[in-house]
Amino acid sequence: MFYQINQYIKFLLKSSNQHGVHSPFVYNLITKCFYDKTKHEAYQNILNYKKALLKNSNTVKVTDLGAGSQVMKLKERTVSNIAKNAGSTNKRSKLLYRLTNYFNSKHILEIGTSLGISTQALHLGNTEAKITTIEGCVNTSNIAENSFKSNQLKNIHLITGDFNDEIKKLTSNTYDLIFFDGNHKKEPTLLYFETLLKTTHNDSVFIFDDIYWSKGMSEAWETIKKHPKVTVTIDTFYWGFVFFRKEQLKEHFVIRA
Ligand SMILES: C[S@@+](CC[C@H](N)C(=O)[O-])C[C@H]1O[C@@H](n2cnc3c(N)ncnc32)[C@H](O)[C@@H]1O
Repeated sequence: MFYQINQYIKFLLKSSNQHGVHSPFVYNLITKCFYDKTKHEAYQNILNYKKALLKNSNTVKVTDLGAGSQVMKLKERTVSNIAKNAGSTNKRSKLLYRLTNYFNSKHILEIGTSLGISTQALHLGNTEAKITTIEGCVNTSNIAENSFKSNQLKNIHLITGDFNDEIKKLTSNTYDLIFFDGNHKKEPTLLYFETLLKTTHNDSVFIFDDIYWSKGMSEAWETIKKHPKVTVTIDTFYWGFVFFRKEQLKEHFVIRA
């Protein structure tokens, strides 16, 4: 926790808003998507989906294949507790909605479904998009699957399995947007990044959650930024955005979103 606070102070000192951003691509993304203050109708669905999970006091046996939660380390957890500690915050879910809407993302991959809070937001941004989402815990994955069904969310393919095995099987596909939100450790993050590079096209975007979660995650973020295929990156502290647009000069932005 001390590491994160320290990093956040550094972030506040070097971050800015859209002013001084000369790239039209990045400027438009910040002003039209990150800072879009419209009260979109879909936001209510986003809030309702999470609210239902927060009210659910059933307990589930959780298998954690990743770095684990810094908040809860119990094996048996209530659904409401998972929603509260592992699920996207409302603010981030709304931004995910705006992102798939803004980019009109048609093929989306999510690494780390949990209860599907972020999956639903990604879906609502473009309901025609085909979403593949991977979750390693069978019981958590079952709850997500049932929530997708009861909310009539279509075009979502939920894979239950270990990222290490499942990601390899996906590399013949192309993705417009990949949300990396599970197993927040340096080596696995870099492995998933390297493996999924094959699935990118010029306009793909990768979003890495919690790039300052630990020293290892920050190191992974620095390595990703340096990769020759990566051009623009945007560090918003809680998420790191990675773009591969060949027409852009390599440039790293630090933006308060
Ligand atoms: C932070 S949660 C995902 C939250 C979700 N994206 C949201 O915002 O609502 C991360 C999930 O990744 C899963 N996970 C972590 N490591 C994994 C691995 N190696 N293989 C499969 N699933 C894994 C965990 O079980 C957990 O449910």
